[in-house]
Amino acid sequence: MKLKTQRLVLREPKMSDWKDLVEGLNDRDTSRYLAAVAFPYKEKDAKEWIKHCIKEWKEKEKTSYHFFIELRSEKKIIGAIDIANYSKQHKTCETGSWINKEYWRKGYIMEAKIAVNEFAFNRLKVRKMETGVYKENTASNKAQTSIGYKYEGCKLKHHIAKSTGKIHDENFYGLMKEDWKKNLSKLKKHLQEKIKNLEGKK
Ligand SMILES: CC(C)(COP(=O)(O)OP(=O)(O)OC[C@H]1O[C@@H](n2cnc3c(N)ncnc32)[C@H](O)[C@@H]1OP(=O)(O)O)[C@@H](O)C(=O)NCCC(=O)NCCS
Repeated sequence: MKLKTQRLVLREPKMSDWKDLVEGLNDRDTSRYLAAVAFPYKEKDAKEWIKHCIKEWKEKEKTSYHFFIELRSEKKIIGAIDIANYSKQHKTCETGSWINKEYWRKGYIMEAKIAVNEFAFNRLKVRKMETGVYKENTASNKAQTSIGYKYEGCKLKHHIAKSTGKIHDENFYGLMKEDWKKNLSKLKKHLQEKIKNLEGKK
């Protein structure tokens, strides 16, 4: 399955993506806020994760959708965005994501989230999306509210990040379908302006 956007293709992983995964994740600034990513992050870690994702994509009753984010201009994987814990009963799912540090602050996660949220609300028919973000993670806390997620509360000392062993408080956010639909055109305009500004700076 593929979701295409202006600058990205969100697609199923291939084993040959492992080098791009190591380049993106073998970096403490990226892995320190991710629950299950080791540091250092090696070929073996990447290949195991890709194998796991490929297996989950083959399942009939999927509860996870692991999209790798390919930058169209470079044909390179620059990050990933996952749908996890999809529940048909509750009509909910969770998301998580990362972007290679070299590509931060270019609107890529916003672009990927617009595509994935549309997929979740329209195709999976969820009514609510949820996400958890470590309290100290300024970039991701801002990225969630920028896209319309609302803060719902904080679980104290909730997680231990694998790469650092550090215990984190975790902020929880929710996004309702009706709020998403209301804000979507404004959000798309905001992203277009951001891309235009970035292109003007090249
Ligand atoms: C969080 C992360 C995915 C953001 O990706 P990105 O592609 O750089 O984000 P974008 O450029 O699309 O920006 C999205 C919004 O977040 C804001 N943002 C991004 N980085 C920020 C930072 N360092 N400080 C403050 N705001 C930031 C942007 O300003 C933008 O909001 P705006 O349009 O209202 O200005 C990226 O920093 C990352 O991979 N971090 C490490 C892994 C991680 O923390 N993953 C999330 C786990 S919950």
